[in-house]
Amino acid sequence: MAVVENVRAQSLETVPMLVGGEWIESADGRTIAVENPARRERIALVPRGGAADVERAVKAAAAAFPAWSRVPPRERGRLLLKIADAIEARVEELAVTIARETGNALRPQARPEAKGAADIFRYFGGLGSELKGETIPLGEQVLSYTRREPLGVVGAIIPWNAPVLLAALKIAPAVLAGNTLVLKAAEDAPLGVLMMAAICAEHLPAGVLNVLTGYGEECGAPLAHHPGVRKLSFTGSTEVGKLVMSAAAERIVPVSLELGGKSPSIVFPDADEDWAVQGIIAAMRFTRQSQSCTAGSRLFLHRAIFDSFLAKLKAKTQGLKLGDPLEESTDIGAIINEKQWKKVCGYVEEGLSHPEARLIMGGLPPKEGPLAKGYFALPTVFAEVSNEWRIAREEIFGPVLVAIPWSEEEEAIRMANDSHYGLAAYVWTHDIGRALRTAHRIEAGWVQINQGLGQSPGHSYGGYKESGIGREFSLEGMLDSFTQKKNVTVNLMV
Ligand code: NAI
Ligand code: MG
Repeated sequence: MAVVENVRAQSLETVPMLVGGEWIESADGRTIAVENPARRERIALVPRGGAADVERAVKAAAAAFPAWSRVPPRERGRLLLKIADAIEARVEELAVTIARETGNALRPQARPEAKGAADIFRYFGGLGSELKGETIPLGEQVLSYTRREPLGVVGAIIPWNAPVLLAALKIAPAVLAGNTLVLKAAEDAPLGVLMMAAICAEHLPAGVLNVLTGYGEECGAPLAHHPGVRKLSFTGSTEVGKLVMSAAAERIVPVSLELGGKSPSIVFPDADEDWAVQGIIAAMRFTRQSQSCTAGSRLFLHRAIFDSFLAKLKAKTQGLKLGDPLEESTDIGAIINEKQWKKVCGYVEEGLSHPEARLIMGGLPPKEGPLAKGYFALPTVFAEVSNEWRIAREEIFGPVLVAIPWSEEEEAIRMANDSHYGLAAYVWTHDIGRALRTAHRIEAGWVQINQGLGQSPGHSYGGYKESGIGREFSLEGMLDSFTQKKNVTVNLMV
């Protein structure tokens, strides 16, 4: 078996990683195979980066830093705007790459993601002049002012669920602010990131952006622990977020963490309507196989509408088409890899084993037929779930929605907040007072009322509680996460 695997692997192209403006293999020549999870087929190899590669990349980033930090901010922004145009010109190629390596469907997810990455570069590209400081009024004899200075080499680690968008969200604000960057792509989805890195490399000086591929423990951990890294920015699981934060604590470097969620959707009785059902489907991110940190995966339905709402939800969700991510008509693609797929199936089995829980739709994936060829998971809804059960408490990161009934507003809010996560939340009602009262009492970084959309550039976004620290997507996020303030105080009387 191992021999067959090797032979197959050798016929694949190795896509190199970017260090100091050069495209390189890993120092020890080892590789990782990238799989198309919808077909369980290997599609490419990438370098299996390790500590030696981290060393080389951090050196390259440190060498590029002094000159890059002195480029006027608006000039740096101008380069980002060129990158935005160049990404836009290659959206389709990028989108197909994302769809193949992640299993995310092209139309609802991979193409919007590629366009979103261009949008992120364009947004930050216009913010160069906003890297400004303040003057402090200490009187006529003193001039006291602040400067926003870059931190130095940023170490960024990203996951696989929206790889290109998340890479753009690290690269654009970090380099606009004058930092240089070593970004570690996720082992499951490095190809789109490398493609975008190639576009960036056409416009940025060598060493400003370095992209490594490799496993978390072998490549991510040495990056997090590298003494030359002056800032850590991580998106991924809460478990690894804690490791990154302790690495940061060792040498007192600032850290931003965008972590997991188990976000509540609270539906009031007056919202037993089609638009709310559609919104719940969007909030649950079924068309991303629910592999989203903001998935509204706990559905708190008022007792009075519990059954009627679930009937509508079932009818609408059943209209979504599972299948080949590259088909334009596909709504739902495949789960990223075998490990995640098994994990999702394990949660479905657990739901099925609860005698009180009612399976509304979905269940375990078929063992035969076209869907058995890939890591497909059915949109699954369990009703009458207790907020105490594992399926209601843990981030499944798959299409398993739990519906929990409630009768009093107070009870719904208490259950919604009874979670160690606090990333997103959704409230559904025509009653504006009730909606805002609820939004204000929910412990989450982002509450949406009557919609279940994704983040937009300019909108500060991040978690409460164990869902993270820091904000991304915005001007304030860039200033807080990727600059440090220096105060200069001048005695004017000399
Ligand atoms: P992960 O958190 O292990 O991986 C995210 C990134 O961290 C990858 O680039 C990985 O290589 C890196 N990494 C892993 N271990 C590391 C270490 N010790 N030091 C430094 N970097 C390390 O996530 P994984 O294993 O892909 O998924 C597991 C679960 O995490 C999912 O089921 C989901 O619940 C959650 N998750 C949440 C995400 C979010 O955006 N909130 C994204 C991805 C996963
Ligand atoms: Mg992991």
